[in-house]
Amino acid sequence: MTAITGKTRVAGVVGHPIAHSLSPVLHNAWLAAAGIDGVYVALEARDGGFRRLVEGLKTTSFAGCNVTLPFKEDALASADEVHPRAARAKAANLLVFQDGRVHADNTDGLGLLAAFAEQATGFDAKAGPVVVLGAGGGARGAVAAFLDAGCPHVRVVNRTFGRAEALVAELGGEAFGLTDAEAAFQGAIAVVNATSAGLADNHAPDFPLAATPETCVVMDMVYKPLVTPFLAQAQALGRRTVDGLAMLIGQAAPSFEAFYGQPPPKDVDVRALALKALSLKAPGQ
Ligand code: ATR
Repeated sequence: MTAITGKTRVAGVVGHPIAHSLSPVLHNAWLAAAGIDGVYVALEARDGGFRRLVEGLKTTSFAGCNVTLPFKEDALASADEVHPRAARAKAANLLVFQDGRVHADNTDGLGLLAAFAEQATGFDAKAGPVVVLGAGGGARGAVAAFLDAGCPHVRVVNRTFGRAEALVAELGGEAFGLTDAEAAFQGAIAVVNATSAGLADNHAPDFPLAATPETCVVMDMVYKPLVTPFLAQAQALGRRTVDGLAMLIGQAAPSFEAFYGQPPPKDVDVRALALKALSLKAPGQ
């Protein structure tokens, strides 16, 4: 990082907890490589502090912030202007402060598609049905991203069928219960795990991945561990896989451009830096 001066452009990420966020690692490496007089910090908001933080910072020189759990819905509600893709996702992961106004966006869907482009060479979302597992916020963003990318058919599989039905009624696609997962996997070109199954106990979600075509690409939004039990199951079946770290980096890039006015430099291996940061953490953190 170059020395912080009175002109340094400050942005950051807000969440709770936030200490283990990888976003400062990514953004500060890009800033240093690009020689930009900027810095990116992590802020933990407590006790209703998120709304007060946005209210206060929007009329300062603070460029803006990424927003992570549990404030993505609050972020959307705090905005003066909302990008249509954030409105569709019903959540914002990016707030930009400009002339006292708050602009909300959601770059998670862009990150998802960037991850496929990077790790599943030749993948074309227009080429066939895609399956999204889960019906929470992450799943909603994935469904919107695939539909926006021209996917002809999005199938939403969820344990609670009613939530899948509600999601597709709003965004489009077809709802399936867990017992119909095998039918949903028929002819799928991609399966994305957006459930929180296995997050706590590290068990693979019990989905019948063997029912997918051999050419199907399997992705997990979780990146800790990098190869989740779900991805390991897919790899054992010989499927190509896409990991959640590529999505994290993919959502960070358009955020960086929004804060600092230029895309991140390509000549810095932020994935290696993120992997190093991940390996330095104690298990479970
Ligand atoms: P987020 O907003 O982060 O996506 P969420 O709203 O809590 O999180 O959604 C978690 C998703 O994981 C839900 O789709 C949930 O299914 P239900 O709607 O039936 O609750 C899914 N999920 C969590 N644990 C699961 C498990 N053990 N098996 C299958 N699905 C699971």
